[in-house]
Amino acid sequence: MATEIRGAGGTATARVTDVTRMDEVEGLIEFAAGEYGPVDHLVNNAGLMVFSKWSDRAVDDWDKMIDTNLRGYLHAISAVLPGMIARRSGHILNLGAVAGTRVGGASGVYGATKFFIRGITDSLHQEVGVTHGIQVSMISPGVIDTGWARRSPTPRASRSPRTSTRARSTPPASPSTTSSSTPPARTGEPARPWKRSTS
Ligand SMILES: NC(=O)c1ccc[n+]([C@@H]2O[C@H](COP(=O)([O-])OP(=O)(O)OC[C@H]3O[C@@H](n4cnc5c(N)ncnc54)[C@H](OP(=O)(O)O)[C@@H]3O)[C@@H](O)[C@H]2O)c1
Repeated sequence: MATEIRGAGGTATARVTDVTRMDEVEGLIEFAAGEYGPVDHLVNNAGLMVFSKWSDRAVDDWDKMIDTNLRGYLHAISAVLPGMIARRSGHILNLGAVAGTRVGGASGVYGATKFFIRGITDSLHQEVGVTHGIQVSMISPGVIDTGWARRSPTPRASRSPRTSTRARSTPPASPSTTSSSTPPARTGEPARPWKRSTS
């Protein structure tokens, strides 16, 4: 992605980081600060969406989603918050999901991680948003074709019998968001905002 952004005339630097590791996230924030100065914007985006039914008992997948979608966000928030509080400015943007308001089929744990993200976003907003001048927001997309389903982990024959991979790469055909306030279910296309207009 960094190459694509640079190719389009922008500026970008990348560093491979596992967000489940606090030390690596701290290293990333230090690296970014060294390249560009203090971190003003954090976009908590890294996430895993692995679908399974409760009866599948896909414990490995639940653990991975909890490590990435919960701990990963917390690690990044923890790494940037002291600087933002000291500067009394900054923006934390958390990627939630429609599933964080209404859970769809075969997405109990994934949806629950997004409920968690809604909770921490509300709490951060109350605690540091107003009193410390930090902007805290959340985006909750519906189903967007970013290719995540095709990149879902391949079922492994060596998995423990407790860890079913059934339905892991097969999300519900449409999210079960049947509330009348929810737009008709359809898959969206990712935007490419960094592509500069030639006109
Ligand atoms: N697409 C949707 O329909 C949809 C709907 C609602 C919400 N969301 C949310 O939007 C966010 C992005 O989703 P997406 O559709 O862009 O998914 P994606 O295409 O699968 O991208 C997920 C990204 O997270 C990264 N990642 C996963 N585990 C990581 C880890 N341990 N450390 C660092 N990076 C890690 C992946 O890196 P690698 O490629 O290197 O593994 C990948 O770049 C997620 O939080 C997701 O829950 C997506």
